[in-house]
Amino acid sequence: MSLLLSLIIPTYNESENISPLIIQLTSLLDRTLEQKYEIIIVDDDSPDLTWKIAQDLSDQYPQLKVIRRQGEKGLSTAVMKGWEKAQGEILGVIDADLQHPPESLLQLWSEIEKGADLAVASRHVEGGGVSDWSLLRRFLSRGAQTLGLIILPGVIGRVSDPMSGFFLVRRRCLANSTLNPLGYKILIEVLAKGKIGWISEVGYVFQERQEGQSKVTKQQYIDYIRHLVRLRLSLWRFERFIRFGVVGLSGVFVDMAFLYLLSDSSTLGLPLTRSKIIAAELAIINNFLWNDSWTFRDIAQTQPGKRRKIKRFIKFNLICLAGLILNVLFLNIFYNIFGLNRYVANLGAIAIVTIWNYWLNLKLSWRSTDLDSESGK
Ligand code: GDD
Ligand code: MN
Repeated sequence: MSLLLSLIIPTYNESENISPLIIQLTSLLDRTLEQKYEIIIVDDDSPDLTWKIAQDLSDQYPQLKVIRRQGEKGLSTAVMKGWEKAQGEILGVIDADLQHPPESLLQLWSEIEKGADLAVASRHVEGGGVSDWSLLRRFLSRGAQTLGLIILPGVIGRVSDPMSGFFLVRRRCLANSTLNPLGYKILIEVLAKGKIGWISEVGYVFQERQEGQSKVTKQQYIDYIRHLVRLRLSLWRFERFIRFGVVGLSGVFVDMAFLYLLSDSSTLGLPLTRSKIIAAELAIINNFLWNDSWTFRDIAQTQPGKRRKIKRFIKFNLICLAGLILNVLFLNIFYNIFGLNRYVANLGAIAIVTIWNYWLNLKLSWRSTDLDSESGK
């Protein structure tokens, strides 16, 4: 019998919560899905023997399976382990401490039945909220979300509660994705790596924990930032950025060579800023030709013809010219304010502007029409 739902519950020291949770969940799911579901508890060898209690429970509840991990620890890797073993078409995750109300699962399920690829329980939509959270905790939670919106706007911005640890997702949307989340935030990994079209959100109130302790430590906040940066780099398809950097480097040589040929006292000795502008424009032309035929070759090939190439060049030039203004600005700040040597100041300015140029050119000049491409995230 094929299973419809595989619900993963990561547990660590949840001995008081596990029985009441399983009783509630199985009674809800038996009514909705009959036997076509499984609940997989993934316990990291809890000292309070949560895994033992769960194993005993599985004698009573045939849909319940228990994985006891030894020597491994971590919420998101526990969930990945459960998903690996899961048989269901729909993969889900819920916390064990009843802070995620089991009854909201039915609302999530009905969103999936309507056709959603991902159904997320959210604290930040109608009907959602948190019970009595301190101002600090609200600030930290919203602060983390804002940081995520800055680093991964196209991912974090897709849902109102990207920190939610309570959701259902279609297995096929994750089929070709290698998920390797860090810390607590699985949903972010699913949004970034999965092929997720229709997203549905259900409001729920995050209850206060009655039994046991939250396992959240400072480490989770550090892991969260590391996770964001790692996703940012992976989504940037690093090899393309490397190529852009190599082309940028060739542009530096063109830039420097012409800066020397034009401004150095032993050559033409023209004024610095004028020489800089000419040198930079020649470097821009050099970089465009290499980027169009190498870095973004795959995208440029989908936009054939001279006219479109000129359009890309104009966009590239405008972006780089804006970058040039930034470049001159930083060059003068580093040279006149920080008193750096002119060539060190120039290198610093170029480094900052390279990231600016890459990001905007990926978004605008070589904007590919394919929605899934890295420029959409
Ligand atoms: N297997 C395993 N290993 N489970 C763990 C581990 C671990 O190292 N650490 C925590 N868990 C389990 C807990 O037993 C609980 O079932 C669940 O993961 C959540 O842990 P809590 O420590 O209760 O997290 P929280 O309540 O502070 O945060 C939760 O809610 C946030 C808001 O939705 C988590 O779901 C967060 O991901 C979520 O952002
Ligand atoms: Mn909790």
